[in-house]
Amino acid sequence: MVVMHEELRHTVDYIWENHQRKTITDADHHAVHRALELLTAGELRAAVRGNDGTWRAVEWVKRAVLLHFRLTPSRPLEAGALHFYDKVPLQDGWGEKGVRVVPPGAVRHGAHICRGVVLMPCFVNIGAWVGAGTMVDTWATVGSCAQIGERCHISGGAGIGGVMEPIQATPVIIEDDVFIGARAEVAEGCVVRKGAVLAMGCFLSASTKVMDVTKGNAISHGEIPEGAVVVPGSIPAADGTHSTYALIIKKYRDESTDARTALNSLLR
Ligand SMILES: CC(C)(COP(=O)(O)OP(=O)(O)OC[C@H]1O[C@@H](n2cnc3c(N)ncnc32)[C@H](O)[C@@H]1OP(=O)(O)O)[C@@H](O)C(=O)NCCC(=O)NCCS
Repeated sequence: MVVMHEELRHTVDYIWENHQRKTITDADHHAVHRALELLTAGELRAAVRGNDGTWRAVEWVKRAVLLHFRLTPSRPLEAGALHFYDKVPLQDGWGEKGVRVVPPGAVRHGAHICRGVVLMPCFVNIGAWVGAGTMVDTWATVGSCAQIGERCHISGGAGIGGVMEPIQATPVIIEDDVFIGARAEVAEGCVVRKGAVLAMGCFLSASTKVMDVTKGNAISHGEIPEGAVVVPGSIPAADGTHSTYALIIKKYRDESTDARTALNSLLR
């Protein structure tokens, strides 16, 4: 049963409001730890459903979660006795490399992960490059030799295609400051230029038509221009018999886009 924890709420709110100027005490650690314990036990929730069916975030609980990242340094963790049978070993030694890896995030030998990268439980294949400050989110895959720039966000379940299969494929390039939305897929050597944004569920292959409605509905293939904000759509066939999946450049990055794609620095 979800119960109220008024005293804990006040403590968490106080730490949240003051954490940048106050000395963090054992009691602060304990409060945040307690909130996480209660979440684990199902006695707290980060969002609650109102009587009218609408859901509302419980802000202080979210604050406790964020404070955990602020208050807790990374440390070596074990994810049980995992065993594999493969030709390419997985990398380790992340602490020294300045990379945070959430289990069971896996990086194969031969991939380069720059300092400051955060790897959620994802898979990075051999030959890939992941630039400094990038986050590869849960169940995202970075294919062999794919090149990801700095400060990118590869969202949950997104797929960045590699060059291994099919054999003729060229690597996908994701330039700096790109946002790839959840479950999106970029394959076949496509290039996503600096700062571009792919909404969730965008699929980009070499054949996908990319229509820029800001530029007279110009159609291109294989490349997303710098700063473009791209959403899934379709283009009707000339004879009107059907429509074909396409990507639509709706606009170029603005404040709204920046706000919706910003990485939460507290989680880094
Ligand atoms: C791409 C995204 C950032 C756009 O945000 P934005 O810049 O604020 O865009 P807006 O809401 O102003 O929308 C601009 C236009 O694109 C359309 N659009 C935006 N997102 C869309 C989507 N996902 N699918 C279809 N159309 C979309 C809007 O309907 C709007 O169309 P209109 O001009 O015809 O009215 C946002 O839609 C998105 O996908 N966020 C990422 C979610 C995600 O993957 N999170 C990561 C979880 S791990």
